[in-house]
Amino acid sequence: MKKVLLFSLTVIIVSVLLSSCNQSSKNKEMVKKENFGVHKGKDVFLFTLKNKAGNVLKLTNFGARVTWIEVPDRAGNKENITFGYDTFEGMIKGDPYFGSVVGRYANRIAKGKFTLDGVEYSLPINNGANSLHGGPEGWHSVVWDAEVPSDSDFPTVKFTYKSPDMEAGYPGNMNVEATYTWNDNNEIVINYKCTTDKNTVINITNHAYFNLHGAGNGDILDHQVVINADRFVPVDSGLIPTGELRPVAGTPFDFTKPHTVGERINEKDEQLILGGGYDHTFILNSPRTVDASVYDAVSGRYMEVISDQPGVQFYTGNFLDGTQTGHGGKKYIYRSGLCLETGHYPDSPNQQDFPSTTLKAGETFTSQTIYRFSVK
Ligand code: BGC
Repeated sequence: MKKVLLFSLTVIIVSVLLSSCNQSSKNKEMVKKENFGVHKGKDVFLFTLKNKAGNVLKLTNFGARVTWIEVPDRAGNKENITFGYDTFEGMIKGDPYFGSVVGRYANRIAKGKFTLDGVEYSLPINNGANSLHGGPEGWHSVVWDAEVPSDSDFPTVKFTYKSPDMEAGYPGNMNVEATYTWNDNNEIVINYKCTTDKNTVINITNHAYFNLHGAGNGDILDHQVVINADRFVPVDSGLIPTGELRPVAGTPFDFTKPHTVGERINEKDEQLILGGGYDHTFILNSPRTVDASVYDAVSGRYMEVISDQPGVQFYTGNFLDGTQTGHGGKKYIYRSGLCLETGHYPDSPNQQDFPSTTLKAGETFTSQTIYRFSVK
């Protein structure tokens, strides 16, 4: 009897071990890792993630970027729908933000200054009079560490970076994680986690550009957009918030019902003129629901954005001018890509009435954003 019990126990243990082994090798099999380049002495890799649907997501640890999202159209034809470069050299020379994780503070901080606990901090100025996206050497421009976790059911890559105290002017040693999972529902699930040893500020996002016709295939003016936001954040000529939170009702900023990007973008609206188009944060009505969506009636591709963050920056590629040549030699022309960058509002450290972006020493910041792809 004892022997039988011992035997069954051994069988159970061995099969559990074997299945966990299969599990761990499963994620590794679904993620291919290749050398992509070397930057400042650190290896840069290209990760190719394939989900059960056979769709491909490519990531790199340079800036913890998304560089390729290949999803089918209504007829099943697959095409990459995000901006990026075929080579690391192209990436280094190209636009710094395509697909990157942006931090320590995504979007603008007025005049590159903020005060925390009575101390004034100065940040690099890289956008007119202001600091944009963590300065020129923000997290988009560094080589992150990367691991392929063994305990994931779906292709997953976890990027980590140790941002030293006073890097780009921000206080506190910060440990940051950005984990991408490409699940079988064609969702890119991005989980962020940050900790600090001194009080600091944090606003982290992903800066992917999307064109559902396929990246480099014309503009996005016919894309139908919905943003579940009753208010947005008006800006001044430097794209710094005025402090007002303005209702979208009756303005070209009302995307609570579907409108194409191009329908109202050239109206003589003060905010559209200041932004050169849409380049504004929308205040999400109920984060964690479908906060925004984009539909391309031509291809049938549909993208939904779900986040736990209070806002989303809707940017319509108004500064693109065709000088960037991306994947397959395609040019990224004026308004040929749109961004939906989830996060806090711009310049929050200087705006008392905005939700706080302070992260206290010893506390942990987490957030999640999902980009879900399907067809209609
Ligand atoms: C900003 C744009 C800026 C772009 C740079 C966006 O987040 O809102 O004003 O030009 O990033 O890629």
